[in-house]
Amino acid sequence: MTADEARAIAGAFAPTRPWKNWNDYCYALLKLRSDPLYPGVLAALRGSTSPVLDLGCGLGLLAHALRQDGQAMAYYGVDNDAAKIRSGRHAAGRAGLADMCFEQVDLATTLPRHQGSVAILDVLQYLQAEAQLALLQNTAAMLGDGDRLVIRMTVADGSRRSVVSRIGDRAANVVGWMRFRPRHYLGLDAISPHLQQCGLTVTATPLYGNTPFNNWLLVAQRD
Ligand SMILES: C[S@@+](CC[C@H](N)C(=O)[O-])C[C@H]1O[C@@H](n2cnc3c(N)ncnc32)[C@H](O)[C@@H]1O
Repeated sequence: MTADEARAIAGAFAPTRPWKNWNDYCYALLKLRSDPLYPGVLAALRGSTSPVLDLGCGLGLLAHALRQDGQAMAYYGVDNDAAKIRSGRHAAGRAGLADMCFEQVDLATTLPRHQGSVAILDVLQYLQAEAQLALLQNTAAMLGDGDRLVIRMTVADGSRRSVVSRIGDRAANVVGWMRFRPRHYLGLDAISPHLQQCGLTVTATPLYGNTPFNNWLLVAQRD
């Protein structure tokens, strides 16, 4: 994403007074500038007009990226962090984004009702192994023809990158940006067959960009 595009989105997270908290603004700017996540997800969703459920949406940056990309489908973001949901809702309103909904939901116990595409971006590792597989099975059932399940995840494969990813996740928890510790990392050898058993075809590609992390993008659709 260009500097201008990132600044345009991050602006919705800027505090109304200069002496107030700039954390969300700085995080949004840094994330949008440095991480290839959103261009990858936007490309995966392009061409579909189905509503998107964003599981573990954080500040809802995907909502802003979708609109900036001209993708006008309804957006429903859920996260268990009440402060992020408040901030995401506020920023989407401030940016004048239409057809947006944000809700506090704990994915360890609850899955919202939805039909359409689903995004699970850097979230799976915060659930226990069994909860991850159940979540994937339940989200697969939400997809109709042409809908997409887009997952970004750290792949557990014993590589140096996967170690750096784990350290990064722990650090995010220690400094307080992430309220919860990661629980379990899946390998491609576990997630791909599971999605196939749910009746989906899956493509998995590395999405490293200039980061040191072992990030992969998985895009799944009904056979
Ligand atoms: C690394 S952030 C990713 C945020 C967003 N998906 C993005 O890509 O910008 C992980 C998010 O998952 C959320 N999360 C972790 N455990 C969760 C749970 N049990 N239920 C809902 N959200 C959860 C965190 O609050 C955090 O916002």
